[in-house]
Amino acid sequence: MRMRTRGHLEERLNECRDITIENYCEATRDFVEASPLHIEIGCGKGTFITQTAALNPDISYIAVEKVSNVIVLAMEKVKEADLKNVRFIRGNFQTISESFPDSSVDRIYLNFSDPWPKTGYAKRRLTHGGFLDIYKRLLKEDGEIFFKTDNKELFDFSLESFESNGFILNNITYDLHNSGFEGNIMTEYEERFSQMGTPICRLEAKLKKSNQ
Ligand SMILES: C[S@@+](CC[C@H](N)C(=O)[O-])C[C@H]1O[C@@H](n2cnc3c(N)ncnc32)[C@H](O)[C@@H]1O
Repeated sequence: MRMRTRGHLEERLNECRDITIENYCEATRDFVEASPLHIEIGCGKGTFITQTAALNPDISYIAVEKVSNVIVLAMEKVKEADLKNVRFIRGNFQTISESFPDSSVDRIYLNFSDPWPKTGYAKRRLTHGGFLDIYKRLLKEDGEIFFKTDNKELFDFSLESFESNGFILNNITYDLHNSGFEGNIMTEYEERFSQMGTPICRLEAKLKKSNQ
């Protein structure tokens, strides 16, 4: 197996160009229209997307991450696993989201999103109302958001934010690993925080149908 090195970032990104797209429009029609589309925002080093995509070959995944030397590790994992159902977009989701058509996404994963604890930065939280408006536009009618975090303050903020922005919440837990939930796939941050004994919070959010 070829040795992975931390250096030569551009070269390594270039080696992954077949699974990289600049925006939604570059995803082939087969890729996004023939199967459900799930996206992960802030995929980090890609453990979650790689394992999830391997278990669900009939679902298409787009993983978004803004840090180049992090996303490249995720891309290399997907290439090494030879997965055909994952594409990556490098950049800030807020900008990238503009290329997605309305009602194009079946599920959004938000895993261990940055908490931005200072009140003045609340708008940067990926569960702030500004982002929820973007998700509402992108999600199909039965679309859903799966959110996990180690940060209880962010979780409580998010519960309130989802509810006041017209989402219905299901399967809420403040201790995922002791909740009986089956089929959980751990992320890198999840491994780290659970090893330190921090309970993991999780929820599922669905758009309220207009007639409900
Ligand atoms: C705390 S890390 C969690 C990584 C991974 N999801 C995990 O659970 O191990 C949050 C990641 O989200 C990325 N991120 C945060 N905001 C983003 C945005 N607006 N667009 C794209 N990536 C973002 C960060 O660069 C970082 O890699």
